[in-house]
Amino acid sequence: VRNPYAPGAGTRPPVLAGRDQELAAFEVVLRRALQGRARKSAICVGLRGTGKTVLLAEFGRMASSLGFAVQQIELADGTHLRRNLAVVARSAALDLSATRRAGDRVRRVLGVVKGFTLPLPDGGSLSVDLDLDPVRGPADSGDLAHDVAGLLRELGEAAAEHGTGILLAFDELHVADRTDLAALITGMHRVHQLDLPIVLAGAGLPSLPGLLGEARTYAERMFTFPDIGPLDREEATEALVAPARAEGVSWTNPALTRVRSLAHGYPYFLQEFAKHAWDAAEHDVITKADVDRAEMAATAELDRSFFRVRMDRLDDDRRAYLRAMAALGPGTHHVADVAAALDATAADPTGARAALVRRGLVWMPREDEVAFTVPLFDDYVRRSSQHPDL
Ligand SMILES: Nc1ncnc2c1ncn2[C@@H]1O[C@H](COP(=O)(O)OP(=O)(O)O)[C@@H](O)[C@H]1O
Ligand SMILES: [Mg+2]
Repeated sequence: VRNPYAPGAGTRPPVLAGRDQELAAFEVVLRRALQGRARKSAICVGLRGTGKTVLLAEFGRMASSLGFAVQQIELADGTHLRRNLAVVARSAALDLSATRRAGDRVRRVLGVVKGFTLPLPDGGSLSVDLDLDPVRGPADSGDLAHDVAGLLRELGEAAAEHGTGILLAFDELHVADRTDLAALITGMHRVHQLDLPIVLAGAGLPSLPGLLGEARTYAERMFTFPDIGPLDREEATEALVAPARAEGVSWTNPALTRVRSLAHGYPYFLQEFAKHAWDAAEHDVITKADVDRAEMAATAELDRSFFRVRMDRLDDDRRAYLRAMAALGPGTHHVADVAAALDATAADPTGARAALVRRGLVWMPREDEVAFTVPLFDDYVRRSSQHPDL
């Protein structure tokens, strides 16, 4: 019942370790936005399980406490920016009207949102509940970049008039297609030019900065890209020790060393091993022996919940490609080396690689290099090819 550790996807950890710098930098962004000062939006990048979603949620809490209307958007394959933005713009506008009596300004924004939805295939059915006429002109041209810029402008002006700001937090931003990314960048560019109090925060895989740069060459200058990586020794120790201390439980040093080394500093793995070590411990001190007893259960849980789901539903070519990568060990590999490590039965390595990139399992740090997006995935692939039932 008292186990404080929280392995999961986007599950708030008991202690958010090692992210003070990112939080302090983002607070500056928020405060500058409220004052209409120049700033860059933060796009958090990292592998899976490093804590990007959790950090984005923390950004949201911070923004709320500063009075921002906060909108969290998780992108998924096949969702479209026009639809997503229509939904969040509408609810941000309603948030503004909740803080004060709904003025003409907010009614106008809602009308602009309605205009913005008109180019959707189902023609604005999203906003049927608004008994408003669409405002024609600012955001209904059908050109996505133009319309997003128009919509954000209206929204930003309304927020400024209310003396507050709006945070748009986009998770899994790397799945957005190029048109959507370009429109979002154009829209935020307009916001920055007009000094409006809209802040964008994003999170995604390490491919994201490259995708943004391809969509608009000036994107690199509009954003900062905090690298959300594994925790260092001290931070990992804090993530393990502080939650236990709050429950009157301590760790021995050898136990800490062992968990840090099993997890390689990755937040999700730290939570998983710590949770199982806690369950294995019989007293108020977690020892190395407890960690050793917990290791199998924790690894099995990781295989089940983190790794295997990503291997499922892959065809043989794609699995073969992953096995060839894994055989080369951790880190980044040259595509030619992977091709050479593939067995001769693999029909279409290039196609398999492209499919794996699309599914977010691997990414390409350079044109001719591949790497896993999931930490320690090479270990798992090797483990599971020895024990096919894993
Ligand atoms: N800074 C941190 N300190 C301790 N645990 C963390 C931290 N960040 C994330 N976690 C834990 O890691 C797990 C994965 O976090 P999540 O935000 O879902 O990762 P990502 O979005 O990068 O895949 C969660 O279970 C969370 O409790
Ligand atoms: Mg996430």
